[in-house]
Order: sequence, then structure tokens, then C-alpha cells
Amino acid sequence: MKPPAIAIDGPAASGKSTVAKLVAKKLGYTFINTGAMYRAIAWYLAQQGVAPAQHEKIAEMLPNMPLDFGKEGAVSTVLCAGKRLGRELTEPVVNDSVSLVAAIPEVRAFLLHKQREYNESEAVVMEGRDIGTAVFPDTPFKYYVTASEEVRAARRAAQGLTDSIRERDKNDRERACSPLTRAADARVIDTSDMTVEQVVAEIVNDIKDKTQVQS
Ligand code: CDP
Repeated sequence: MKPPAIAIDGPAASGKSTVAKLVAKKLGYTFINTGAMYRAIAWYLAQQGVAPAQHEKIAEMLPNMPLDFGKEGAVSTVLCAGKRLGRELTEPVVNDSVSLVAAIPEVRAFLLHKQREYNESEAVVMEGRDIGTAVFPDTPFKYYVTASEEVRAARRAAQGLTDSIRERDKNDRERACSPLTRAADARVIDTSDMTVEQVVAEIVNDIKDKTQVQS
């Protein structure tokens, strides 16, 4: 039987990374940050001086980019020419271009394959925008984590990051290919007035309930 996949989607700065990491830790599953994968491609293209509008060129470059999507311990990592990418992924140029790069169908198809690969041999908690709708549409464990726009903007500012999340959300919701949308069968969690611990507990309890029903 295929190992379980927990899908956590939601808009920018909704707290899904923090929550997904803790859910993965509690369950002993591997945490996969798919945003980092899109960000790595956006960063690499910026380094090469390639604009997000150059769709054809980007599609051609994809198979030869020196990027590796692996994991260290139970957490996904992104390497460029063997070097782990970290702070590069939240540079302003990446914040500004990532949602445009992520709208390119070839980019999404390229990463979809790599994202599914993670779950071939192990249980994962994967966070992103289209995990419940496109990456693992058949998983019974889907969560749509959100918060009011004010709360999300405040959370991003508290991280010390300048990031126009409103524009990114608009791009992510309006793109044709796998837009950000709640899967019809996802459990919606509005975290505006919840602590991280409460959100994690709600998800872990729901997974436990569903797992008991299945077995
Ligand atoms: O941390 P934050 O929620 O702001 O963003 P992220 O998860 O790092 O994702 C950065 C961008 O990557 C998003 O705004 C989307 O444009 C894109 N993305 C996507 O299209 N599909 C995913 N599964 C994950 C991210």
C-alpha cells in the first residue's frame, strides 16, 4: 500500500509551513516544502538573467538546471550545484517573480513529478498551493489553512520579510494551471484566532480519526 500523504494548502503567510512541519514531526513523516521548489527555480532563473515571461526558454532549460530536490533527515532540501539554498529563496527578486514562474505549465509538470516521487517510499506532509487538488487528489487527508488578510500581512511583517503577498495570492488564484483553490473535500482551518498548537492538534486528531475509520 502507498504510504500516506498529508496535503496542506493555503494562501501566503497563512502559517502552513510552521503547522506542516510540526504535524510531520508529531507523526514521524517527512516534511516537504513545495514552495521552496518553485522558489529555487525562480531564483536560478533570476541568476541567469532569464525573465519569467520567457516561457519557451524556461521550458527548455528545466531538465538541465543544476537543481536537486532531496531531503536531509525528515525535511526536504533544495540544492544548487551541490550547495543548499536557504536565504536565497526569500530574496526580494524571488518573492517578486515566483508566482509568475509557478504559473508556467511546464514548470508545474516538472515539479509535480518530483513532488510525487517523495511519497513513493515514505509518508509525507506536503505543503503548497495545489497539493490536495493536483499532487495528491486521492488522499483523504487534505487541509486548507487560511487566515484573514490582516493577520497574514502581520505574520509576514513579523518575520521581517517584505513580500507583497496580496499580489502573489492574486497570481496564484488566477492562473490557469493548478490555481490556488480549496479542494472540495479539504477541511478548512481559519487560523486567525488560533494558536499554532491548536491548529496542529486539529489536523493530527483529524488524521487519527480518519485512520481509525479506515483500518
Ligand atoms: O511561504 P509562502 O506561503 O509565502 O510561499 P511559498 O509556500 O514559499 O510559495 C511561494 C510561491 O510558490 C507561491 O506564491 C506560489 O506562486 C508558488 N507555489 C505554487 O504555485 N504551488 C505550490 N504547491 C507551492 C508554491
